[in-house]
Amino acid sequence: MRNASQKLIIAAFPEISRTLAQRRARRCFVIGPNSVSSKLVINGLQKTFVVNEGFGHSRHVHAIENVNLEIADGEFVCVIGPSGCGKSTMLMIMAGLYPKSGGDILLDGQPLSEPGLNRGMVFQDFALFPWLSVRENILYGVKQKKIPEDKHNGIVDHYIGMMSLQGFEHTFPNRLSGGMRQRVAIARALALDPELLLMDEPFGALDAQTRGNLQQVLVDVWEQTRKTVMFITHDVREATFLADRVIVMSARPGRITEEIKVNLPRPRDILAPEFVEIERRLASLIESQNDSSNN
Ligand SMILES: Nc1ncnc2c1ncn2[C@@H]1O[C@H](COP(=O)(O)OP(=O)(O)OP(=O)(O)O)[C@@H](O)[C@H]1O
Ligand SMILES: [Mg+2]
Repeated sequence: MRNASQKLIIAAFPEISRTLAQRRARRCFVIGPNSVSSKLVINGLQKTFVVNEGFGHSRHVHAIENVNLEIADGEFVCVIGPSGCGKSTMLMIMAGLYPKSGGDILLDGQPLSEPGLNRGMVFQDFALFPWLSVRENILYGVKQKKIPEDKHNGIVDHYIGMMSLQGFEHTFPNRLSGGMRQRVAIARALALDPELLLMDEPFGALDAQTRGNLQQVLVDVWEQTRKTVMFITHDVREATFLADRVIVMSARPGRITEEIKVNLPRPRDILAPEFVEIERRLASLIESQNDSSNN
């Protein structure tokens, strides 16, 4: 949807309108600020925590400094960076769970500040409701969205099927493996039909084999749904396997220092020389950030 001033500009300058239409037709995403095809725009984002240390003392922790980023509709973006550089903080702000200290975040042109059902979140630590069954966990957000009740069963069945959870609908989270719990968490997030999927190291606690399986499941699901995804990871291979684009953050205070496009066809072969080359580049960028934070 365009706002009134965009409509006015387009009416006054037909050339702009033609250029935008051509870009859309070519599916070419403009990386500059406030581009029309950006789903998410982050502009000058800052976050400083004020930590109360008692006895009237407080400490300022500059977690994020001047982060600028645009993500196109349907793009899969991975964020990597040294531990403590503000990745989770950035995601929490986008989820509306932390207030920002400065800057703007726009999703579909609308400022984000509160939590909302237009964003789905998946965390590392299986944030499922332990007192609800698999089915009830997936239904939770659907009910919040006030979707008519006669649609509920169809929606839940769809995501149970997509995440291969058939037969476990009435099981409680403590009876599921870690990988299955993450499948439920992804199903629950997708059942909201979110505009943006925010994932914070969702596979970080899983063994290598389960992790590999779930990475493939996520790629399959993303290819079916084409959701816009922001995915945080420490694992450069995971980032190379999943992402259209990998954003590299500096040590704290976190800023974006590099972005690498992964123009490899899916399914990706982790042994292909082009794959290994990107993985190596990312590893060396992370290493240089770690070195600079140790100096
Ligand atoms: N609620 C909070 N109160 C105060 N400081 C915080 C809070 N949350 C995070 N921080 C600080 O902000 C900085 C960034 O933390 P954050 O958790 O975002 O890093 P991260 O990049 O996600 O790290 P990791 O890769 O280890 O998960 C750290 O210095 C952390 O101590
Ligand atoms: Mg984190």
